[in-house]
Amino acid sequence: MSDETNENSAPERVIGTPATAPAGKVLVADDEAGPAAVSFELDERKAKKAERIVATLFLLAFAASVGFMVYFIGWSGRDGGMHGIDRAQESNLWLGGLMTLAFLALAAGVTVWFRRLMTSVPIEQERHDLATDEATRASFARDFQQGALDSGFTKRPLLRRTLLLAAAPLGLAPLFLLRDLGPLPEKRLRSTWWGDAVEKAKAEGKKGVRIVVDGTNAPLKASDFNSPGGMITVLPEGIHEEGEEALTLIAKASTILVNIEPDLIKPVKGRENWTVNGIIAYSKICTHVGCPAALYEQTTHRILCPCHQSTFDATDGAKVVFGPAARALPQLPLGVDDEGYLIATGDYPEPIGPSFWERG
Ligand code: FES
Repeated sequence: MSDETNENSAPERVIGTPATAPAGKVLVADDEAGPAAVSFELDERKAKKAERIVATLFLLAFAASVGFMVYFIGWSGRDGGMHGIDRAQESNLWLGGLMTLAFLALAAGVTVWFRRLMTSVPIEQERHDLATDEATRASFARDFQQGALDSGFTKRPLLRRTLLLAAAPLGLAPLFLLRDLGPLPEKRLRSTWWGDAVEKAKAEGKKGVRIVVDGTNAPLKASDFNSPGGMITVLPEGIHEEGEEALTLIAKASTILVNIEPDLIKPVKGRENWTVNGIIAYSKICTHVGCPAALYEQTTHRILCPCHQSTFDATDGAKVVFGPAARALPQLPLGVDDEGYLIATGDYPEPIGPSFWERG
C-alpha cells in the first residue's frame, strides 16, 4: 500500500480516542475551555421508544407494590389472624415475590432511563478549599440545570409521573409491614388479675383478695412477714385456677412484697394507707423492658432489675434511682382482712411493665 493512500485514509481509532459522530447524529459542541467531552444528541424516535419502556417498567413497579399491599390486607389474613403460620409459605411467596418484582421493575426502569435517555458528558471540576466565587456558583447552577435537562426529568413528564407513581406505594409498604408487629394491646395491658380478683372478693362481701405466696399458694398474714428487710413474691388467691390463661395472668400479676421500717417510707400522695406496718407491694415487672425486678438490697431498700441494672427506691414509691427504666414500679394497695391476712384492696392504678403505644 502506498504512502499517499495512507495519508487520505482516516486514522485508526485507538482506545481513548473520542469517537466520531455516527451518520445522522449531531455532535454536541464541547466547551472549548473545558475538558474534552463526547456526547450525542438523542435520536428522538428511539428516545420515545425508550421512554415508553421506562414508563411501562415504572407502571409495573407500581402495580406490584399495590398488589403487595392488597394481598397483605385482603388475602394473607383471610383465615383469621394476621399471617397464620400454616400459611407462611404462601404468604412469603406472594409478599416476597411482589416486593421483589416492584424493586426489580423500578431498578430496571431507572437503568434503562440512564443508559438510553441520558447523554454522557465528562465533567471535570477542581476542588476548592474555600467558598467558590460568584462565577463558579453560577457555572455550577448552569451545569446542574443542564444535568436535569440531560436526565430527561424535566422534559419528559411521562417518566417523571410514572416514577413518582411507582415510588409512592413502595414508600408506604413499610407501614403495612409494621402491622406484623401484631394487634394493638388496647385495654388488655391496663389491668391485671388483681383487679378481677378484688372485684370478685368484694362481690362476696370481702374487703379485698387475699395475697398468697408464689409457689406455695399459702395465704400470708401480716404477722408472718413482720421483720424488716425481707422480700417475697406473691400472687392473688385463686389465680392458679385459671387454666390456659394462668401463665399469662401469673406473669402480669407477679408482685413483690418488701418490709421496711415504717418511719423510712416516704408518703406518696393518695397512697398513705396502701402499706401495712411497713409492708409495701410493687409490681415485679420492670418498667424498662419487663424483666422480673427480683433483687432486693435490704440495707439500701433498693429493688434491682438484673437485666439492665435499673434500680428503684422501695422507700420512695419505687422511683427510678438508676438505670434505663423511665417509670417507677407500680404500687399495689394493701390492707388486712378481719383475720389478719394481707389483702389487695384494688388493682394497680396504672399499667404494669414496659411502656406501649397506647399507654396514656
Ligand atoms: S428490663 Fe429491667 S432494667 Fe431492663
